[in-house]
Amino acid sequence: MVRGLLVVLSLLLLGLQGCAPKAVDFEQTSPKEKIVLTFSHVVSDASPKGRAARLWADLVYQRSGGRVEIKIYPNGTLYKDGEELEALKKGYVQIIAPATSKLTSLDSRWGVFDLPFFFNDLEQVHQLADGPVGELLRKSMREKGIEVLAYWDNGFKILTADRPLENLKDFQGLKIRIMDSPILKKQFLKLGAIPVPLSFNEVFEALENKKVNGGENTPSNLYSKKFYQLQSYVTISNHGYLGYAVLMNRDYFNSLDQETRKILLDTLKEVTAWQRKIALEQNAADLARIRNDQNIKIHDLTPEEKEAWQAVLKPLAYEIIPLFPKNLQSEILKIGNLN
Ligand code: SIN
Repeated sequence: MVRGLLVVLSLLLLGLQGCAPKAVDFEQTSPKEKIVLTFSHVVSDASPKGRAARLWADLVYQRSGGRVEIKIYPNGTLYKDGEELEALKKGYVQIIAPATSKLTSLDSRWGVFDLPFFFNDLEQVHQLADGPVGELLRKSMREKGIEVLAYWDNGFKILTADRPLENLKDFQGLKIRIMDSPILKKQFLKLGAIPVPLSFNEVFEALENKKVNGGENTPSNLYSKKFYQLQSYVTISNHGYLGYAVLMNRDYFNSLDQETRKILLDTLKEVTAWQRKIALEQNAADLARIRNDQNIKIHDLTPEEKEAWQAVLKPLAYEIIPLFPKNLQSEILKIGNLN
């Protein structure tokens, strides 16, 4: 009888243990409860995009109590340009943030961000991205199974080359690396150069082995990837904008619970405001570092040279603007600078 009582007592104890609230250690949460999103990008962790991705991941982890984790793969270690969009569509990766130029393969109207000498400053770019034009591009991507979550900046591009680039004739026959975008291609064809589309991760090797003679990029990309050290001349042209769309696979986004979506989006809004601020600061700081390099000859475009470049390049706007509905055409013309 005593043995019987002991058995009943043990069973009762075991039952009570089963009912006790479980202590939650989020690092040990089961994969079913934890949400892990993979974020792949092609630039350095130290770039404005890389830093913002890290901040977003850290804040989301904290705010979700460790339930939502964004794992970041920088430097094209997971997917390179030309691979990452496909990987996103297939759901192999959940988040990417490509340069808007690289989205022209899906909708050529993304080329509006590439227009040379069209934006006077970042404020004008933000007006475009945060207004009805940005909204139309979001809608177009949604139809292709991709959700645009935010627009991030890098900044304005400058030119690097193995020869001085001051007058239009200096571009003749110059092989210049571009991101794969029709407007960027036309920009250099109009200048008499030979545009060579290459993915970001191929640029260093192409410059080193003289497969290309030059390129266009922002100070932060040129500095963090040391491209400028392979070139002798830099022209401060600020001729075009480079920015990003933060993208998520749409089916995946819709499959997330409401609370997770809210944490991701609310946090991203804050991070985007911060990202735009630090992108501006970092490009200024990295440009100062490039200017300090004794091995580089820097040329600031004179107003006369700029005028000559603009006369050739600004008309490219007429190839993109008519692709938008009439009401947005006037919106774009109000923001940008065609005179
Ligand atoms: C990037 O900033 O994501 C890459 C830009 C480039 O391909 O030059």
